[in-house]
Amino acid sequence: MKKFFSVADVDSLEAIVQEALSLKANPNAYEHLGKHKMLGLVFLNPSLRTRLSTQKAAMNLGMNVMVMNMDKDGWALETRDGVVMNGTTVEHIREAAAVMGEYCDILGLRSFPSLKDKEADYTEDLFNKFVKYCGVPVVSLESATRHPLQSLTDLITITEHKKVAKPKVVLAWAPHVKALPQAVPNSFAEWMSKAQEQGLVDFTIAHPAGYELAEEFTQGATITHNLEEALQGADFVYVKNWSSYKEYGQVYPVSDNWMLDNQKLTLTNDAKVMHCLPVRRDLELSSEILDGPNSLVIKEASNRVWAAQVVLKRMLENLNK
Ligand code: CP
Repeated sequence: MKKFFSVADVDSLEAIVQEALSLKANPNAYEHLGKHKMLGLVFLNPSLRTRLSTQKAAMNLGMNVMVMNMDKDGWALETRDGVVMNGTTVEHIREAAAVMGEYCDILGLRSFPSLKDKEADYTEDLFNKFVKYCGVPVVSLESATRHPLQSLTDLITITEHKKVAKPKVVLAWAPHVKALPQAVPNSFAEWMSKAQEQGLVDFTIAHPAGYELAEEFTQGATITHNLEEALQGADFVYVKNWSSYKEYGQVYPVSDNWMLDNQKLTLTNDAKVMHCLPVRRDLELSSEILDGPNSLVIKEASNRVWAAQVVLKRMLENLNK
């Protein structure tokens, strides 16, 4: 594996999940694989889980890790080509990425979308330039349109906790006070759509009108504007807010109550509830669910280590060929 950016970078979902679970059972089995190899984690935006779980995964593989908080500690980055840099930007991504590639064997990049320029965000301009100029394998730590380490984690967690061979999985839009990216729901939809194609899940998306995701991510999913209808018989409910794709980055007033609570959960097949975190309590998701027996959010966050570790392991194996 030379790049981990989307579900397209994985051949068999079942194989990568089983490999991740075998790493979970024996975390240090490959601790010699990363000896004398350097992982660089570059953050243009905040992170708790991605930052810590990816470092832990790398250490389990015997790697050294450097973390660069580019948003706070780096020079102001220019990403446009052909501009005279006489403004506030100090360093071009061409040099910055190339230099980081000199220091590291594998790089990770977190780069949120602007939510202003749909074309630049959805062509993944920044992520693609970073890959092009750094010259080493790159793992996405969440880009403008996708969060693949989170989605792989979610599939691992569903596989571990499912009680039926083909569980019903519902992605449920939730309220928020800010305009959030579509990266997590896009990515979850992309991975679940592929899992559905492979007969692993039944996949439904519920959101208010106006919050349609880009069609490229939702092929084959059942899509409804009725949350109660979607929740009927659900085995897993994945709660997440996102802003509008069509009216890019906009937030519409929503009249119905879209927050999941125990009363709504009675419609489900005693569904387990997931969220990528961070979560705003009693706005996106009720405290009674987060503190109750149906919540998987901490186990899900814990599984971030095994998703990162299987991806880094595959990249290291490719380096060592
Ligand atoms: N879920 C997730 O990516 O968390 P962080 O933003 O804290 O890394």
